[in-house]
Amino acid sequence: MKTVLVTGGAGFIGSHTCINLIENNYRLIVVDSNINSSPKSIERIRQLFKNKSIDLSDLLNFFHGDIRDKNFLNQIFANAKKDKSPIEAVLHFAGLKSVEDSFKDPMLYWENNVVGSLTLFEVMQSFNCNTVVFSSSATVYGITSQKSVDESSVINPNNPYGQTKAAVENLLEGIFKSYSDKWRIANLRYFNPIGAHESGLIGEDPNDKPNNLFPIICRVAGGTYKNLKIFGRDWPTIDGTGVRDYIHVMDLADSHRCALDFLLNNQPQFLNLNIGTGKGTSVLELIQIFSDVNECDISYEFCERRPGDLPVVIANNRKAIELLNWCPKKNLYDMCLDGWNWQKLNPNGYK
Ligand code: NAD
Ligand code: WQD
Repeated sequence: MKTVLVTGGAGFIGSHTCINLIENNYRLIVVDSNINSSPKSIERIRQLFKNKSIDLSDLLNFFHGDIRDKNFLNQIFANAKKDKSPIEAVLHFAGLKSVEDSFKDPMLYWENNVVGSLTLFEVMQSFNCNTVVFSSSATVYGITSQKSVDESSVINPNNPYGQTKAAVENLLEGIFKSYSDKWRIANLRYFNPIGAHESGLIGEDPNDKPNNLFPIICRVAGGTYKNLKIFGRDWPTIDGTGVRDYIHVMDLADSHRCALDFLLNNQPQFLNLNIGTGKGTSVLELIQIFSDVNECDISYEFCERRPGDLPVVIANNRKAIELLNWCPKKNLYDMCLDGWNWQKLNPNGYK
C-alpha cells in the first residue's frame, strides 16, 4: 500500500479526494492549517467509512499545520520514513482560492500559495519524493475567443490568485527541466467544481462567506440569503448570463486518483491537464436545473457584470480523458441533487 501526503486535505476538494484515495487503497497523511476548513471534515470521513465497518485509524492520519512551516513538513516526512511507510507522492491542494481576496491582499496570496508550495517542493526533494499532483485552475488562462480552452492556450491570468497558480506551475516546470529523470508532475487545471459527496456527510464549507455561484444558490434555497445576484444579463451567450463548465467534485476527485496512478506507473514527466466536463451551462440554466431537481424556487435579480468575469469558460478535456483513463460520470442533475443534499443536512456546514 502506497502512502501519499495530501496537503489541504480538510478542504472542499481535498476531503472528497481523500475518500476516493482510501477506496483505492492509498494510505493518507493529511496536513491542513484549517485556515479555510474544519478538521471535522476528517472526522466525517472516518464516520463515512465506520458506517461501512472500515476503521481508518492506520489509513488516515491528520496533522494540523502550515505548509510554509518547513520544520513541520520535515517532521511529517521523517516520521513516515521512520514508520517504514515513506511518502511516495503528494497531492497538493493547500492554498487560498478567492479571486476577490487576492486583489485585497496579493502578498498574502503569493506568500501562502507560492512560498508554501516552494517550501513543500524543497522538503519533497530532500526526501527524494518527486511525484506531485498540483491543484491549478482554469483561471490561469488568458482571455480567448476559442469555444473551449485546451492546455496550449495562452497563460495570462487576470487576477493575483491566478498569477500565484501560474507561478507554481512555472516553478514545477523549472524543477522538471532540471531533474527530468526524477520528477513526475501533473498540474490539474480545474474548471468549476460543485456538488458534494452523495452521503451528505462531506461538502463545501468555507470559513468566510462564499463568492462562487453554486454555494450561493444553495444558501438562497436554504433561506440564508434572500436572493441571488446575477452578474450581467448582456453577455454574448445563450441567454445573456455567464457560461461555465461545472464538474461534480467526486469526478474531480477521481481525476486526482487517475493522475496519481498514471504518474506512479509511467516515466518521469510534466503534464498540464484540463479537468472539466467540456460542457457549458449558463447561470440561468443552472438555476433552472437546481429548481427542477430539488423542487424549490431560487429568487434572483440581475446586477452589473462582475469585474474580471468572462462570458464563457469551457474546458477542452480531451487530453485528460485520453491519457488518464478518466472520464466525468456525473451530470448537472447529480451535482444539484448532491450539493443541495449536503446543504440541507448541514445548514451550518461542519459547525
Ligand atoms: P479549500 O479552501 O476548501 O481547501 C484548501 C485547503 O487548504 C483548506 O482546507 C485550507 O485550510 C488549506 N490551506 C490553505 N493554505 C494552507 C497552508 N499554507 N498550509 C496548510 N493548509 C493550507 O479549497 P478547495 O476548493 O478545496 O480548493 C483546493 C485547491 O484547488 C486550492 O489550491 C484551490 O486554489 C484549487 N482550485 C479550486 C477551485 C474551486 O473552484 N474550488 C478551482 C480551481 C482550483
Ligand atoms: C460562475 C458564474 C459569474 C456568483 C471562480 C474562480 C476560478 C475557480 C472557480 C478557483 C459566472 C456568475 C457568480 C454570483 C453570479 N476557482 N455568478 N452571481 O468566476 O467561473 O470561477 O471559481 O480556482 O478561479 O475565478 O466561478 O462560481 O464565481 O461564477 O451571477 O453571486 O456565475 O458571473 O458567470 P468563476 P463563480
